Formats: sequence, C-alpha cells, structure tokens
Amino acid sequence: MHGHGVKVNVGEATTKVTFILEDPEALTGEEKTEWEVPAAEGHDLLDLAIGAGINIEHACGGVCACSTCHVYVEEGMDNLSEATEEEDDRVEEAPGLQRNSRLSCQCIIEKSGPITVRVPAWNRNAVKEVPH
Ligand code: FES
Repeated sequence: MHGHGVKVNVGEATTKVTFILEDPEALTGEEKTEWEVPAAEGHDLLDLAIGAGINIEHACGGVCACSTCHVYVEEGMDNLSEATEEEDDRVEEAPGLQRNSRLSCQCIIEKSGPITVRVPAWNRNAVKEVPH
C-alpha cells in the first residue's frame, strides 16, 4: 500500500519491541494485548508494527503529515531517534497527548535495548479493515 511493513528475521534482530495494544482486536483481529516483535537498528516503529500484523493507522503513509500513528513510548525512549521539531509540532495534534507521545513512523531504532510502546485505543476509530 504505502510500502510499509518490515519483517525482521529473528536471526538479524538485535533487539525487540513490545507493543501493548489497548484495543488489540481492532488492530490485529486477535485478543492478545502484548506483542513482542524482533527488531533491528534502522527500522521505524510503524513499519515494525505493520510487519507484525499490528495495523496502526498511518493516514499520511509515514511522512509526518498526520498524527494517526501516535503511540506512547513507555520504555526505551533513549533507544529511538529524537523527535524533530516537525514531529513535535505534529504530535501536538494527537488526541490524548502525553509526555511520552511519539509518532511511530518517526521513531527510528538507533540502539539495541528493550523498547515498550503502547498503542492507544482511540486509534481503533480510524481502522477500517483488519488485514488477514
Ligand atoms: S503516519 Fe502520518 S505522521 Fe506517522
């Protein structure tokens, strides 16, 4: 669709990202709330999620022009690229803004280390279809 969705093979993974889904059924079609996804430096959180079948909305296709890919980084913010001014401006438009709010398409993994990301439930309204 937008060329998104990277799958990292366990062999090349240097770290992992734990996605905690507040509304797992809307995002994945399953009831599992906690998803551990193998990850490596250079990938962004949105791509990893999509590759793992977690359908985080990304209306602009991952170019920092919307705020639908909003997530909360609960652990490992230091392992991610810093927010640019552009991202900061954009994320302010997201509902439920918190100090640890980020746009998942703009979070690039820079260091190996545990990362935990919470995907807020309001995201569900924007999800039209769960891929099979
Ligand atoms: S998908 Fe639009 S800002 Fe991330």
